[in-house]
Amino acid sequence: RVLIVDFGSQVTQLIARRLRESGVYCEIHPYDRIEAMLDAFAPKAVILSGGPASVHEDDSPSVTDRVFRLGVPVLGICYGEMTLCAQLGGRVEGGHDREFGRAEIRIERESPLLHGLGEVGDRETVWMSHGDKVTAIPPGFEVVASSEGSPFAVIADEGRRFYGVQFHPEVAHTPRGALILRNFTHRIAGLSGDWTMASFRQESVARIREQVGQGRVICGLSGGVDSSVAAVLIHEAIGDQLTCVFVDTGLLRQNEAEQVVTMFRDHYNIPLVHVDAGDLFLGELKGVTDPETKRKTIGRLFVEVFDREAAKIEGAAFLAQGTLYPDVIESVSARGGPSAVIKSHHNVGGLPEYMKLKLVEPLRELFKDEVRALGVELGLPPPFVGRHPFPGPGLAIRIPGEITPEKVAVLQKADAIYLEEIRKAGLYDSIWQAFAVLLPVKTVGVMGDARTYEDVLALRAVTSTDGMTADFFEFPWEVLGRCATRIINEVRGVNRVVYDVTSKPPGTIEWE
Ligand code: XMP
Repeated sequence: RVLIVDFGSQVTQLIARRLRESGVYCEIHPYDRIEAMLDAFAPKAVILSGGPASVHEDDSPSVTDRVFRLGVPVLGICYGEMTLCAQLGGRVEGGHDREFGRAEIRIERESPLLHGLGEVGDRETVWMSHGDKVTAIPPGFEVVASSEGSPFAVIADEGRRFYGVQFHPEVAHTPRGALILRNFTHRIAGLSGDWTMASFRQESVARIREQVGQGRVICGLSGGVDSSVAAVLIHEAIGDQLTCVFVDTGLLRQNEAEQVVTMFRDHYNIPLVHVDAGDLFLGELKGVTDPETKRKTIGRLFVEVFDREAAKIEGAAFLAQGTLYPDVIESVSARGGPSAVIKSHHNVGGLPEYMKLKLVEPLRELFKDEVRALGVELGLPPPFVGRHPFPGPGLAIRIPGEITPEKVAVLQKADAIYLEEIRKAGLYDSIWQAFAVLLPVKTVGVMGDARTYEDVLALRAVTSTDGMTADFFEFPWEVLGRCATRIINEVRGVNRVVYDVTSKPPGTIEWE
C-alpha cells in the first residue's frame, strides 16, 4: 500500500484516484499526522502531494524525516518535490517566475519513472503549477527532465529510489501522467496492482465496524445513488444497527420513492422509515416563487423532518451520509486538512449542530463513477446505480414560479417520457444529466381543430465529468422530435417543447 502525504493541494485526491485506477491501494493522510501512523501503516511507497504553501514561510509544512529512512521509494509532486529537496539538503527559492499551466519538459536522462514516455531529447507535455523553485538538488540526485521554467522538472536519486516532479502527473492536463504514477508504483515500488472495488468493499466494511462498534447508525436516504450505496455498504458492515430514514419530499422523479422503498425493504431487508412528507413540503412551498427561498424552505423542512424521525431512534450515535469526494474537496479543512475552504455544501439535509452525532461517510474518498462501480459490486441493479444525479431540492427547482401539486404531476410525467426515450435511443449513459423543466409560460397551439393555450416544457441534457462545468448534449434531432411529440400527446397541459442549448458556464445545469 501507498501512503499519500497531503500538503493540501486541491488535486491530492486525484493522485489516489489514479493509483486506484491502476489497482494500487493507498490512503491520504495530512502531513502533520504522519509521525503517529507511519509504523502501523508500513507503506511500500510514499507520495508527497502538492500544496499551497511555500517552503519559505517560517512554519512551512514538512513531513517527518523518517519517511526518507524507511527504505521505500518516495515521490514528491510539486510542493512535495520542494519539501523533499529542502529536507534532503537541496536548495529551494521563492518563485519570482511562477509557472502555471501547460509546459513542455525535455527528457535529459533515462529513468524508470519515465519508462515508456520517450527517448532522451524527446519532449512531453505536462501541467505545471508552482511558485517556488529548486535551485540546487540534494546530494545523490540527478536531473531526469527539465523545462524552460524549471531546470529540475524531474529529479531522481535512483539508488535510494527518491523522485521529484515539479508538475502534476495526477491531472488530466498531463496526458501521460497516469503512466508516470504507474511507473512509480509498479516499476519502481514493485506493487502488483491487484487491488479492486471488491477490496475497497472489504476494507470499508472493516473500517465501519471499527468506527461504529456496537453503536446505532442513522442514515439519511435521499432516494439517490450515493446515499443508497452508502446505506447498503454500512448495512453489510453492521446489519440492523443501521436504520435508514427516507424523507420523501414529494418532489422526486416519477415512481422513484416506491423504487427506493421496495429495494431497501424487500430486496435488502434494511430497516427503513419512509416519511411521506409531500403534503408538508408542498404546503410550505405554496406561494413561494423565489429560487433561494425555495431552496431554503426545503432545506429547513428536510432537517426538521429528519430530526424528528431521528429522535425516535433510541441511542443513535452516528449519522451516515453518502458524501463523495467532490463534496469534500470544497471543505477539506473540515477534516483537519491543510487546504482552504472554497465553498460550503449546498446539499439538503445538513447536520444540525445540536444533534451531536458522529459522521460515518464511507464514500468520501470516491468519485461518482467509483461509487457506481461500488454499487454494482454490492449487487445494486446497474440501471439504479447508473442513474443521473438529482438535486436535493428535487423538482421544486425545475418548476420556475409557484409550485403546485398539479404542476409536479405534469413535470413527473413529462420527465419520465423524456428519460424513457433517451434510454430507448441508447443515449442515457452518454449524458451526465437530463431532465425537464416546466415553465410558467403559456403559449398558443393547435391540436386537432382546436386552439390550445398551455404550458411550455423545456428539455435539458448536459455532458459533464463532475457537474462543475457542462456542455449541452447534442441530440440527434429525431430523438428530440420523438420526445416532443410524445410529451405533447401524452401529457395534459403541455402544448410546446423547447430544448435548452446553454452550457455551464455561463448557465448552470439546473434552472434555479
Ligand atoms: P448547477 O445547477 O449548480 O448544478 O449547475 C450542478 C450539479 O449539482 C446539482 N445540484 C444539487 N445537488 N443539492 C444537491 O444535492 C442541491 O441543492 C443542488 N443544486 C444543484 C445539479 O443537479 C447538478 O448535478
